[in-house]
Amino acid sequence: MERLLHFKELDSTNLYLKTHHAKLPEKTIVTADQQTAGRGRDNREWVSRPGGLYFSVLLKPSKIDFSPNFTQLMALCVCYAAETWGLSPVLKWPNDVLINNQKLCGILSEAVAAHNQVQALVLGVGLNVAQEDLSHVGQPAVSLKNLRVELTPQEVLQTILDFFWRDYPALEKHGFETIRNAYKKRFAFLGKEIAVKNGQETLFGAAEELSPRGTLLLNTAQGLKEIYIGDLIV
Ligand code: BTN
Repeated sequence: MERLLHFKELDSTNLYLKTHHAKLPEKTIVTADQQTAGRGRDNREWVSRPGGLYFSVLLKPSKIDFSPNFTQLMALCVCYAAETWGLSPVLKWPNDVLINNQKLCGILSEAVAAHNQVQALVLGVGLNVAQEDLSHVGQPAVSLKNLRVELTPQEVLQTILDFFWRDYPALEKHGFETIRNAYKKRFAFLGKEIAVKNGQETLFGAAEELSPRGTLLLNTAQGLKEIYIGDLIV
């Protein structure tokens, strides 16, 4: 069903799939033991040394209502996996997974478009597995090994993918509603005062609700605002 391509080293697994998407089947997974040009959101560097899990999934959904929903599903599946290892992860909307306020996993999703049409989505996941020193990360970060969960990146990958392929068909067909309750349960910031940064703009307010589409409703001094994308600052 899925095709797995593994590399010892790549520039970036996302870049690989963006370059080769046209000749690869949907559900192709690319992993690399290390990346020389790993990228995070907002074009930040994602340092990708051996010991971490770096993979990207190629999706060609038959229907896209709101493309960030696929990333939200992946973040949720990372939570499900972490829960099977006895951890208590939380989601930082839209797609970071934190444990004890430290980042375990980040996801970068990119759309490949032609003639104004999305041809494919590439979901790239970086998860701290066996690294001991994460002091290079510009924010508090934690690995599974730091949390005394000893697994190989391959084992971590397989657990996440099992959840992802289980829930993907329903999300593709029926949208965010299929995962909204599960996502909300793990979304630690509902009701809290937060800031959301999108490019140069930062909005302040209380995280009021997650809409049926998966957007964030922020209660600001200027009224309720629907946020489609951004970084939470808490
Ligand atoms: C973030 O939190 O900023 C997202 C980080 C995403 C990193 C992953 S590692 C695998 C894939 N390849 C990349 O170059 N980036 C993503």
